[in-house]
Amino acid sequence: MQLTLQAHTAFGLEAVVARELKGLGVENVISENGKLTWDTDIRGMIDAHLWLRCADRITLQIDTFQARDFDDLFDWIKTMRWERWITKTSKFPVNVKLNKSQINSVPNTQKIVKKAIVERLSQAYNMTQFPETGAVCAIECVIDKDQVTLGLNTCGAGLHKRGYRKLVGEAPLRETLAAALIQLSYWNKDRLLVDPFCGSGTILIEAAMIARNQAPGLNREFAAEAWPWIEKKEWLDARQSAGSKIEPITEKGLIAGYDEDPEAIRLSLYHLQQAGMSDLVHIQQRRFEDFSTQKKFGCVITNPPYGERLSEVEQVQDLTQIMGKKLRELETWSIYVISALEDFETYYGKPADRRRKLYNGPIPCTYYQYAGPKPPRENQPAPVALPE
Ligand SMILES: C[S@@+](CC[C@H](N)C(=O)[O-])C[C@H]1O[C@@H](n2cnc3c(N)ncnc32)[C@H](O)[C@@H]1O
Repeated sequence: MQLTLQAHTAFGLEAVVARELKGLGVENVISENGKLTWDTDIRGMIDAHLWLRCADRITLQIDTFQARDFDDLFDWIKTMRWERWITKTSKFPVNVKLNKSQINSVPNTQKIVKKAIVERLSQAYNMTQFPETGAVCAIECVIDKDQVTLGLNTCGAGLHKRGYRKLVGEAPLRETLAAALIQLSYWNKDRLLVDPFCGSGTILIEAAMIARNQAPGLNREFAAEAWPWIEKKEWLDARQSAGSKIEPITEKGLIAGYDEDPEAIRLSLYHLQQAGMSDLVHIQQRRFEDFSTQKKFGCVITNPPYGERLSEVEQVQDLTQIMGKKLRELETWSIYVISALEDFETYYGKPADRRRKLYNGPIPCTYYQYAGPKPPRENQPAPVALPE
């Protein structure tokens, strides 16, 4: 069965996800702002769910057409074979996004789409009432400049939900963004990685999963797992195959995290345990001001405080100066910092080799990259090259 999938990404991460798809053997990916589209089969769809680290969501594309009013929309949707995807008991909520279109009411669009699908299903199943007590098959309707795209949400909760983060710390990074920061760096599992502002441990856990080659979706469920047209065995086989690829690395200390806050350390330890990565990552309560190391060719990948409140900005500027002073001394290290602090490089005391505009949720940030020298005899893979 040929399926057209779409991976939705945060702004600026399209090339990272494209490279992940390439690694899964996907060719002919169409990349647009915030989304990547490709054709695949059922196994390819399952693998994308299990393995994509940096995409936010996946949808299965059903149809695309022009509609300028509700009549066009209703008539077209009614002709589609919804019974192929939706069973007599499926729960099928409709989510709508509108952009620069003549149809401009979200609640009315929701109602019309739902009504048209119900009408189609009523004919197909000879039923008038739908109990919606079964598996969720959420419909995604996007109308962008009058072009309607209908899809199904295959993953359910966003892909950042790996299953290990049960408690929320202060300003945590999304797991998908943390994974992307790592993929955009020169770090690999043979190099030391330090996050001196580790918070709830997201960067460390994502790095540990990459080091072990553990599929990020292995310990969670996806909406499409409950859909009857995909055999359970397909999921089981893909999960078994992903499980067999995990590398049993246990060398503790190659990935390390610090934070001054004892509550953050407690959270990190808890999440590491939930992720099954406690034996790989070293965590310790420590102020950045006390950070020092004799090790060489390590990488710092970190998300320090930004000082969003005005009262905190000065404090963060001072901390950034201390960061610059200490980290600039690590001449063989590569340093990667995501920050929303204005004039970060001035306070850090050095212009970055590369900068990337990224969003941490709604906050516009820059990813400052200071690439150190290559470790001797290392044939390291290049990070993802993104257009400037
Ligand atoms: C933006 S949060 C990091 C969030 C983390 N990336 C996560 O996903 O949970 C910044 C962290 O820096 C810590 N921090 C602030 N000042 C510090 C200092 N001087 N030394 C060490 N840690 C500090 C805070 O306790 C907080 O956990």
